[in-house]
Amino acid sequence: FTTFYCVKLVKETMSLLPKHSKEFGSKEYWNKFFANRGNNTFEWYGEYSDLCGLLHQYMRTADKILVAGCGNSSISADLYRVGHKNITNVDVSEVVIRQMRSKYEAACPSMVWCRDDLTQSQFSSGAFSCILDKGTLDAIFTDDSPQVLETVNKYLAEVGRLLGRGGRLVCVSLLQEHIIEHLLTWCQAQGWMSRVCRCEEAEQATKRKGQFTLPVFVVVCTKLNPMPGITPVVESCLDGSGQPTRVTVEELRAHVKALQQYSAVTHALVAKVSAGEEARLELCDSRGESLRYVLYILDAPARANTALPMGVFIVPQRREVEWLFSSMEGRRQLRESTSAARLMVVHLVRGQVYEAGLQQVQEELSSRVADFAPGNLPANFKIPFLSVGGDVGSVTRRCLGRSEWCGEYVVEDVQADGGVTLRRLVFLDNPNVVQSEVRMLHRGAGKKNSES
Ligand SMILES: C[S@@+](CC[C@H](N)C(=O)[O-])C[C@H]1O[C@@H](n2cnc3c(N)ncnc32)[C@H](O)[C@@H]1O
Repeated sequence: FTTFYCVKLVKETMSLLPKHSKEFGSKEYWNKFFANRGNNTFEWYGEYSDLCGLLHQYMRTADKILVAGCGNSSISADLYRVGHKNITNVDVSEVVIRQMRSKYEAACPSMVWCRDDLTQSQFSSGAFSCILDKGTLDAIFTDDSPQVLETVNKYLAEVGRLLGRGGRLVCVSLLQEHIIEHLLTWCQAQGWMSRVCRCEEAEQATKRKGQFTLPVFVVVCTKLNPMPGITPVVESCLDGSGQPTRVTVEELRAHVKALQQYSAVTHALVAKVSAGEEARLELCDSRGESLRYVLYILDAPARANTALPMGVFIVPQRREVEWLFSSMEGRRQLRESTSAARLMVVHLVRGQVYEAGLQQVQEELSSRVADFAPGNLPANFKIPFLSVGGDVGSVTRRCLGRSEWCGEYVVEDVQADGGVTLRRLVFLDNPNVVQSEVRMLHRGAGKKNSES
């Protein structure tokens, strides 16, 4: 959280950053922050237009909404404008409440503005059916020290008290590791259902402004009657389909962490990959269950002649064992021959099926390749896909086994140039090396189809 604040705020509010991240939980810090900003809105993690697609799935116009730690975000006014008339905005900072009341009292007459400390709220139990928290839990939950945990637990206890049965906490958060762990465990202990979604629109909007952002998540926690002996449902909407799937807390944490790491890596790749080095990345299928692509990213050295800002080279199946594709020096030569300033070499993974061939591979990768583009890629540049042979190659697995001495191995038939079939033995702990290879011959004319 602290890192994100530092990166995002660096230009405009450098002087407003706290000396210590714990200050994010203090009223004095926020009063000073909003007094210094005056009427300049600062929208944490995303604006209404970026978040509305997800918010409207979980917030109804009939809801009694509490906006927890409203700050000077315009999201409450935007929600009001589209029909959410029952909104109470609270913040620990009286400065921001005064500013917001005078800004919106004419345009949003029935909206309530109130200074309140949500670790000891003045509102009555069950007063709300929905609590919107955008960045407030993150601001309070600066680390997992006992002192901070005490404040967080008071805040969550108040959230639980203020929501009526069936009510929802809609929490927009960066879900740092200690936050997801604590929030989901807390929900489980209360018997609440929880669901985690990702808001890519909010991330894209931040990226378009040239700023770095970590993935933005929306956690929806629904207050249910506790049912002793029944484990509350935890759902993930992170597989890209938008459909919820039931998961364990552990699986969800791992998925969130993988997305955060991916985002950090792609951010690092905006800069140049040093000469003589390459970045190696592994991409899993959309369920995050099995490895689907291995990517190598390498850049031309400074002052090299390049005709193409970036290209993606798809290595047909099983040709990844060839020197040109399997060794760093080979890939360096490949990049040189394509004249690309950045080349992404893609290995297809053994055991994965790419039924629709190159087209399928391109479709699967096209939404991702821009993530790996250098920062200086010209606007509207369409990254070309390159390959050899015009398809992804044909492979038939003959057997998969395990040897006591060498571990897992595979025997497979690969179609090589000129209609030749090669049968190969590969030990899977070194998958880019062919242990032995034989060329398959066809028996005489009468038995043309049987191999010897
Ligand atoms: C990161 S800002 C988010 C502001 C706003 N929700 C947004 O999206 O722009 C966190 C907000 O939580 C408020 N806050 C911090 N501790 C609070 C508490 N105990 N009770 C109520 N508000 C609190 C701060 O004053 C600040 O406005």
